[in-house]
Amino acid sequence: MPESEVIQIGHRKNPKSQISVTSGVEIFFLIGLLGAAYGTVWLGVHLWMMINGQMDMWSDYLTQRHIHAIMQIYLFIGLFIMGFCYQAAAKQLEVKEPKPELAVVLTVFPLMGLLYQTINPLVGKVVLALPYFLTAIYVFSLLLKSSLKNIFSVGILLLCGLLALTRGVFLNVADPAMAVMVVWGGIGGVLLATQQQFLAGFFGAQRITGAGAFFTNLFYLCSLYNCYMFVSLRDFGHYKWVSIFASLTILTFILSTKGWKVIRSMLIDPLALAFSFGYLWALYGALLMFQEIVSNDLIQHTWSTGWIFPIIFATSLKIISFLSQKELMKPNTQIVMIVLWQIVPLGRAVLPLYTSLAVLPWLVGIAATVVFVSWFYCLLKGILTVRKLNEKAASLRSA
Ligand code: HEM
Repeated sequence: MPESEVIQIGHRKNPKSQISVTSGVEIFFLIGLLGAAYGTVWLGVHLWMMINGQMDMWSDYLTQRHIHAIMQIYLFIGLFIMGFCYQAAAKQLEVKEPKPELAVVLTVFPLMGLLYQTINPLVGKVVLALPYFLTAIYVFSLLLKSSLKNIFSVGILLLCGLLALTRGVFLNVADPAMAVMVVWGGIGGVLLATQQQFLAGFFGAQRITGAGAFFTNLFYLCSLYNCYMFVSLRDFGHYKWVSIFASLTILTFILSTKGWKVIRSMLIDPLALAFSFGYLWALYGALLMFQEIVSNDLIQHTWSTGWIFPIIFATSLKIISFLSQKELMKPNTQIVMIVLWQIVPLGRAVLPLYTSLAVLPWLVGIAATVVFVSWFYCLLKGILTVRKLNEKAASLRSA
């Protein structure tokens, strides 16, 4: 398949960039964005100020931490991840699929599931898990029609990542060790799959194939097996193997995609910068796991704030800018934001190991708020424009 086709990810085509995007995915981003606003800017920053003694502890701190954990994984990042799947999976697997527009219905389940957990925890969890499980079934149905080459390059990572996210709903993700497993096994797997099309389409890199695909999948599956054993037995022997196999997965992924090529564009393209910083943080987090004494909270936030958020930031702006036919945030501004954001993983996950500078919590809180609010504003503007364009197109069709 020519590389240009790899990045055709939906229906609205742009003759210049060859991108096209499935309409409807913006709803996943919209709900995810609202989840992010509450989960990160409100809860994340407040909890952070509290544990650093910069404000009084809320009496229900533990409950709020639990809500932050679920919101961040399942109502923010999880929804973006599902959006990426519905936008990209069929194209990446080269399956001609009727548009999965009905999937938009799934966006209501995470919030319902979170709320319902206060009434009946088990039913709430089932409702929260449902959209992730149905998305896994959707991907599985695509795999049945796809080629072995595509299954090895994106299919296994995508399907296993979604199943790990589904399983994670039934774990206590407010427990940092469990969160590490879900973030790596679930979000990590889906991200490694879906980002390949951007690497191949924009930066002269490629999708994983041949031996590279075989070993990336093998190491990832070995890491998942050890995640599963760690979650079941709480045995730190397995924890170390998660670290080893996660590091090997990331290294093999970078080598086999030729992902280092993004470095050439990192000063001009925000997505390249997000990938460059992101994969360094991903590797750092995986290696950090090898030392048992390091807090799981730091490892988990190394991944979520260093690797995952910047990639979601740049990817979502690229997709929604294209869909709304507007430049939502200038590339230079995005680059400044991604650089500014680096204060968050540094201050949240690295510097606390070495210093307890009083100014640090404030720097992290301010950087997180500034970047999030700017992203929120621009993306929301874009999503509302996309909705208007879609409505206009629908009324023209029915006229
Ligand atoms: C962007 C993605 C984020 C994700 C996926 C995420 C996820 C989580 C999860 C799963 C937990 C519970 C387990 C653990 O302690 O690791 C947690 C706790 C926490 N998070 Fe986040 N978080 C994110 C961002 C942030 C940000 C930006 C801040 C603050 C600036 C923050 C502050 C906190 C605090 C203070 C706790 C409680 C730690 C404790 O009680 O020891 N998080 N987060």
